[in-house]
Amino acid sequence: MENLGLNKIREMYLRFFESKGHLRLPSFSLVPKQDKSLLLINAGMAPLKPYFTGLQVPPRKRVTTCQKCIRTGDIENVGKTSRHGTFFEMLGNFSFGDYFKDEVIPWAWEFITEVMKLPKNKLYVTIYLDDDEAYDIWTKKTDIDPSRIFRLGKEDNFWEHGAGPCGPCSEIHFDKVGMKINSAEEFVKAGDEDKVVELWNLVFTQFDKDEDGNYNKLPNPNIDTGMGLERMATVMQGKDSIFEVDTIQNILKEICKISKKQYGVDRNFDVSLRVVTDHIRSITFMISDEILPSNEGRGYVLRRLLRRAAVHGKSLGIEGAFLYELTDVVINNSFENYPELKQKSSYIKKIIKLEEERFDETIDSGMSILDSYMKDIEDKKEKNLSGKKAFKLYDTYGFPIELTEEILEKNNIGIELEDFEEEMQKQRQRARSAREETNYMGSEDTILNKIPLDIDTKFDGYTKLELDSKVKIIVKNEGMVSELSKGDSGVIVTEVTPFYAEMGGQVGDTGVIYNDKFKAEVLNCKNNVAGKILHFVKIIHGKVNVDDTVSLSVDEIRRNNIRKNHTATHILDEALRKVLGPHVHQSGSYVDDKRLRFDFNHFEPVSYEQLFKIEKLVNKIAMEAYSVKTDIMSLDEAKKSGAIALFDEKYKEKVRVVSVGHFSRELCGGTHVSNSGKIGLFKIISESGVASGIRRIEAVTGKYALEYIEAKSDILKNIADKFKCSEKEILHKLDILMEEQKHRQIEIEQLKSKLAGNSEADILNSEKNMGDIKVFTGILNEVDGNALRDLADRIRDKYEKSVIVLGSNVDGKVKLLAMASKAAVKDGIHCGKIIKEIAVICGGGGGGRPDMAQAGGKLPEKLEEAIDKSLSIIQNTVK
Ligand code: ALA
Repeated sequence: MENLGLNKIREMYLRFFESKGHLRLPSFSLVPKQDKSLLLINAGMAPLKPYFTGLQVPPRKRVTTCQKCIRTGDIENVGKTSRHGTFFEMLGNFSFGDYFKDEVIPWAWEFITEVMKLPKNKLYVTIYLDDDEAYDIWTKKTDIDPSRIFRLGKEDNFWEHGAGPCGPCSEIHFDKVGMKINSAEEFVKAGDEDKVVELWNLVFTQFDKDEDGNYNKLPNPNIDTGMGLERMATVMQGKDSIFEVDTIQNILKEICKISKKQYGVDRNFDVSLRVVTDHIRSITFMISDEILPSNEGRGYVLRRLLRRAAVHGKSLGIEGAFLYELTDVVINNSFENYPELKQKSSYIKKIIKLEEERFDETIDSGMSILDSYMKDIEDKKEKNLSGKKAFKLYDTYGFPIELTEEILEKNNIGIELEDFEEEMQKQRQRARSAREETNYMGSEDTILNKIPLDIDTKFDGYTKLELDSKVKIIVKNEGMVSELSKGDSGVIVTEVTPFYAEMGGQVGDTGVIYNDKFKAEVLNCKNNVAGKILHFVKIIHGKVNVDDTVSLSVDEIRRNNIRKNHTATHILDEALRKVLGPHVHQSGSYVDDKRLRFDFNHFEPVSYEQLFKIEKLVNKIAMEAYSVKTDIMSLDEAKKSGAIALFDEKYKEKVRVVSVGHFSRELCGGTHVSNSGKIGLFKIISESGVASGIRRIEAVTGKYALEYIEAKSDILKNIADKFKCSEKEILHKLDILMEEQKHRQIEIEQLKSKLAGNSEADILNSEKNMGDIKVFTGILNEVDGNALRDLADRIRDKYEKSVIVLGSNVDGKVKLLAMASKAAVKDGIHCGKIIKEIAVICGGGGGGRPDMAQAGGKLPEKLEEAIDKSLSIIQNTVK
């Protein structure tokens, strides 16, 4: 067998099928598009489902790909065995209603035996039980020995993965040990013992399985094949394990280098080396497809893989973050086929490092807590960890529950999962109740939602701000009424309106509704559940009736301010992507007349320099005065034109696309300025984090931006006035002031130490020898307890056997302190007792330890007497 590299095999496969008329497509993202049944792409056919079911027209009826895939179903086995992995590449050739079994079987045989040149006496083939057609083709159109073909049941030879296209299949297997297999039973056994391995699965996709489990026959039968590239490489390279395949081994070697461990020496280390090798591949590829670590869905899978790898890194003795350093070797071994890896390499590294460091801060404490839990369980001879404790590890230390489970399992300990779930549920509940109640109409069962569906309320306010229309419905309190009069509050519904009803983050318009009989102030405008437009009004004078013709007039100044903010939001969205990277997506926004708020995903705070760049770019687009255009088109056309669709909004057949020059293009139903120049000025006023991985920018435009700047200039001017200098000189002046301040501080310190020094010298001079103890006493002025203590400390440290008794008059109050060295205490000195006696003299009380005691008192004039007394006490002690 030729020793072919993994990258080479991939190329040979794709070329082979190109030569058979296939279109080669690049790998699709790991994130499934428009497919809610899957979290991550797990097979070559998964992103092609719409072509199989006929929902979309494929670019060609024959397609070949090498698809990046992730399967985490077997994650606990990853590392333990040499063949399990979460990340793999799947080679495949597909026919969408074009060729079928007749072609695919001989081609597969040709590739395996002539291109890969695998010996025929090492190959076995399986087919579905009653698939005689496949049997005939295998035996008539290839030269396989018919005794090497086995028929297997649904479990083995019927391919399906959740809902979607599926069908019977035929597999090609490689015999690793060189054995003669005589029956289907023997074959299954050899497979279980890992003596034969599946190389290629040819699926004859004839059904579309629906969510209810029905197999619906597809109009045209298709072909879907899948060959695990790593597995093929293992065979071609004569290896036993995917971790020995050239490109994967390069990663494993790098981990050996970092951890200073050898592969194949210690079973435990081998498990960890394999886990890290596999997981870092998944992690790198997932982030290149813009998945970010989080606590749910794909993000959770990523977090779990990353943390599992980090823990195994610890087991290998690696300290601190290290995974991010492995991305280079992953990328260098795969970028040829996955250019996105190279393009995003620094981004990938950054995300891994951030997540790793975050986890690293708590991992050690988490592990030692888990250890103590385990010890506790063993001591008490219990079997399970409580759900509460598992939750604490999850919540406080970031241990995914599966990781805790796995670590416990090694020690034969389980988890009370139900209790854990209950804790999770409680947390979700807390999060929910912390969230703001947003349903403005409270329950949906209100009168406002009962407006007849056949009443049309048309919005005609993109260009008009004033128009006449007829009143169709009036609501007051909980009922529909025929009139509203002066002082009443209620809701007016008209046939047409220029008022924008709150939607897509843009506030509702305000203004007036009037005719010569009445005038009402419009306080807000909203849609009801059915999308009918409601004007919330208060009648200022007169009376309005159903069927009246009225004039509706939007507050133009306010609306224009809203327009500025909304268009600025679109420009900001694009500017963020330009400055921070293509991963930025809007996750919420709010636009009113005074400011705009924009939430987006980003992994770290936006720096001052980046904010500066973003703001500058938005202002540049404003200043270059691009016209803002709105076009109505089909959703498909909109996507083709590169418009950004936000959230999972259900768009109608026709959508509205708002473009600002060629800079930004978004699907949007909101109101905008006609030219970006009308924004006037854009100013960011804050940047903050709102949730993990979500940042928020607040900004102002036009008049409010100007006011913001004016207020700042005002502050500057006041500072300059105070400093008596020009604004330009403020910084210079501040530098000087700070320098002066520093200088003064030094001077103060020097003076202080001089003062203290003097006292210290005086006290040192007071030295008396009593026995072989040196006794120092002194009275100071305005020196507080702490300073007394420092001073006494210094003196005591100078002499082996010493006692110091100090007094101080602080603000007319007495502080007393006695301190003795260890040797003096041994000789019987007890500071606590000394202080107790002399404090009484100063009208106070106190005491303490033999080596240190403090007290307060009220009679400073008695200080001298007290100190003298201390001398006689000491004298008496040493006698
Ligand atoms: N879709 C088939 C598989 O993944 C080819 O095995």
